[in-house]
Amino acid sequence: MRIDVVTIFPDYLAALDLSLVGKARQRGLLDLRVHDLRDWTTDRHRTVDDTPFGGGAGMVMRPDVWGTALDDVLGGEPAAASPGRILILPTPSGEVFTQRHAEELAGAGQLVFACGRYEGIDARVAGHYRDAGLDVRELSIGDYVLNGGEVAALVMIEAVARLVPGMVGNPESLVEESHGAAGLLEYPVYTKPPEWHGRGIPEVLLSGHHARIERWRRDEALRRTAARRPDMIAGLDGTVLDKHDRAL
Ligand code: ADE
Repeated sequence: MRIDVVTIFPDYLAALDLSLVGKARQRGLLDLRVHDLRDWTTDRHRTVDDTPFGGGAGMVMRPDVWGTALDDVLGGEPAAASPGRILILPTPSGEVFTQRHAEELAGAGQLVFACGRYEGIDARVAGHYRDAGLDVRELSIGDYVLNGGEVAALVMIEAVARLVPGMVGNPESLVEESHGAAGLLEYPVYTKPPEWHGRGIPEVLLSGHHARIERWRRDEALRRTAARRPDMIAGLDGTVLDKHDRAL
């Protein structure tokens, strides 16, 4: 998979050299390129923003600078010639990014993140690339406002990259996690030592009884989800519940 990030703060993305994403880059599974938007400015001050039409506070990022940058990064090819390419505009006014988006984006060939700052990017940029036939997504990572799209891009890249085949050492670990297929939060987990600060671990986990452990984990996942995320329980498809769940 190829990922391009365009930003005025390339250093923000340095974290992508670390951990699993960093290893995937080294192994050639992920071709990740970070670009400085100011490289596409033409004036002495390397200006990327201007005052908003209609007045108001703050500055808006100029469409002409973004247009030349994105045309270059997209290789000037017509969108139709490059299926599987998605332009992502992180913005607090976007659709909320979830594990479902991460799963969908993990199947793309190329993701291009355009990280806005200030009051955002001139709205014509999204409209222009959408009309050109490109798959354009305006995505928010949650109901709060950051200073720019860089941290949001980091979040989305990490969520997507770990789903790309070959990226996670043990794909089994993706099966039972929170927000996975079960539609539940993950059950609590424990490791050694068996006693810590006077706290033991649930007996059942030492029983070696696989079916009882599975049942306990499922009950804990249901209990946790009901307490912390009643919205997820309300949204559960009835067919994912078994007869023991219904008795809860
Ligand atoms: N830019 C600023 N806030 C954001 C958010 N919550 N999600 C995505 N991009 C953003």
